[in-house]
Amino acid sequence: MAGIALEFAHQRHVAAIQRYASDPAIGALSNVPTPYPADGAEQWLAWAEGEREAGSGIHFAVTLDGRCIGSCGLTGIDGMARRCQFGYWIAQPFWGQGYATEAGAQALQYGFDELPVDTVEACCLLRNPASLRVLEKLGFNKFAETSNGCDPKWPADEPIGHFRLNRAQWQAQHSQAA
Ligand SMILES: CC(C)(COP(=O)(O)OP(=O)(O)OC[C@H]1O[C@@H](n2cnc3c(N)ncnc32)[C@H](O)[C@@H]1OP(=O)(O)O)[C@@H](O)C(=O)NCCC(=O)NCCS
Repeated sequence: MAGIALEFAHQRHVAAIQRYASDPAIGALSNVPTPYPADGAEQWLAWAEGEREAGSGIHFAVTLDGRCIGSCGLTGIDGMARRCQFGYWIAQPFWGQGYATEAGAQALQYGFDELPVDTVEACCLLRNPASLRVLEKLGFNKFAETSNGCDPKWPADEPIGHFRLNRAQWQAQHSQAA
């Protein structure tokens, strides 16, 4: 999709991340902190830089024609298990235009090309239809449903879906599209 590109998290993205991630609609359905701290984007950048240096995570700014409109990342990179976790959010003014799906596709391509992973996993609240649809469009399959056991933001019985996409599925999907 024209206009959408990923950039490694950088200081130049901090102002937009701070502005957009402060929208409670972002944290309501994702692991973005809510209320968002006054230095939340600076903390995000420090975390992103540390993870990239350690090889444990890659955090991107999602840009539209060069403007940061959200973030996505591949975290928990486990080279032994060859697995990582995928997460994402897009600023509310830009919802519903396919941007999360396009950014996700670019992140997954990066992951399978550049990272020591064969499987990408994601989890999502089952009451988050937009995100469930993004995962479906990207080719993820649900392999488990659990109750929220760890994030105090949601009730302990909040239903969560766990999704998985492996390299072979990704390649099959893309060779069919070609
Ligand atoms: C989830 C999120 C990233 C989606 O971003 P987006 O750029 O709007 O996503 P896309 O446009 O690529 O795809 C959204 C899909 O969900 C669908 N959708 C949106 N709201 C929906 C609803 N209430 N019910 C059913 N489908 C819905 C859209 O129609 C679209 O599907 P389509 O292309 O088949 O029409 C964005 O809403 C967001 O950042 N939400 C808050 C944070 C969050 O939930 N992050 C994910 C945590 S798991």
